[in-house]
Amino acid sequence: MSHDTPILQVQQVTTALGAGGPEILSAVDISLNSGEVLGVVGESGSGKSMLALSIMGLLPRPITVRSGDILLQDRNLLQLPAQELRALRGKDMAMIFQEPMTSLNPVMRVGQQIGEVLRWHRSMQGEAARQEGIALLKRVEMPDPQRQIDAYPHELSGGMRQRVMIAIALAGRPKLLIADEPTTALDVTIQAQILELIRNIQRDDGMSVLLITHDLGVIAEMCDRVAVMYAGRVVEQGAVLDIFDRPAHPYTRGLLASRPKISAGSSWLSTIEGTVPAVGQMGTGCSFAPRCPLAGPACAQRPPLREVGVAHQAACVRPFEGGHALKAQTQ
Ligand SMILES: Nc1ncnc2c1ncn2[C@@H]1O[C@H](COP(=O)(O)OP(=O)(O)O)[C@@H](O)[C@H]1O
Ligand code: SF4
Ligand SMILES: [Mg+2]
Repeated sequence: MSHDTPILQVQQVTTALGAGGPEILSAVDISLNSGEVLGVVGESGSGKSMLALSIMGLLPRPITVRSGDILLQDRNLLQLPAQELRALRGKDMAMIFQEPMTSLNPVMRVGQQIGEVLRWHRSMQGEAARQEGIALLKRVEMPDPQRQIDAYPHELSGGMRQRVMIAIALAGRPKLLIADEPTTALDVTIQAQILELIRNIQRDDGMSVLLITHDLGVIAEMCDRVAVMYAGRVVEQGAVLDIFDRPAHPYTRGLLASRPKISAGSSWLSTIEGTVPAVGQMGTGCSFAPRCPLAGPACAQRPPLREVGVAHQAACVRPFEGGHALKAQTQ
């Protein structure tokens, strides 16, 4: 498993609401190495899904990528003709969503939905496609693939629907899988099973995974590296072990400090006072300043992401400071 060839590089990507509208993502930089799991964590509204959709070329109008580059291996996705991007999507990169019912077709049987990917990306049809569909359902540990290949989505449980979505995503044999909160809608036991499934497949295939979550526990268990997002920006990025051990950004420190006090499934964000600024309301200084106990005059100018350790970046003028103040605030 190689960990040093980037498969995905998102460089200075700014995504905005229409041509002259407010920014939803601002100069986002992330990179994902081959065979690696990169977590993206941040509270609701921080831009995680917009980042995933920017990469996939699936942004809803009028949201568009205004500037930057998105490289999948050596191809710049933002410069590909729509047709080539469509051919790539589902084959070189695939995505699974939080709520399977919104992306599964309710009036098509499971086998047909997997079959579409097999026909489109692997030129498989008929009995061969059916057998491959059954094999994929086995792969995602469906209890009775011979039967479930003919089921409609509504005949399956939430956990099984999510497995079907993963099977569809795997059908094109993608090198990059983007999973946007894939287990948030599921109960805790099923959540753990689905995450384990994703991890096993990732390890077996050496697939690269961009895993979006609001749950730091999921990051700790699943990811090699993590990017922390706040208000449309990456505010900290590095190896999971380094960031859990020595978080640099006050926001990350707040998240980690508040984590053990929260029961599973509830929102940890209620423990950091204030809310994320709305799109278009970010001002020119550090976006975290209104909630930051360390904010001072130096924060009036937005700090760029810069190296604070080995392969560890943070966007803060006072990295590593103020652990106690933050703990006090987040109690
Ligand atoms: N279709 C849309 N039109 C306009 N703004 C949107 C749309 N979808 C999301 N946004 C805004 O973009 C920002 C980022 O949203 P999103 O990426 O969905 O956050 P996350 O996935 O981290 O919860 C939010 O402020 C949200 O209000
Ligand atoms: S730059 Fe200033 S306001 Fe922003 S996180 Fe760092 S200390 Fe807080
Ligand atoms: Mg989202």
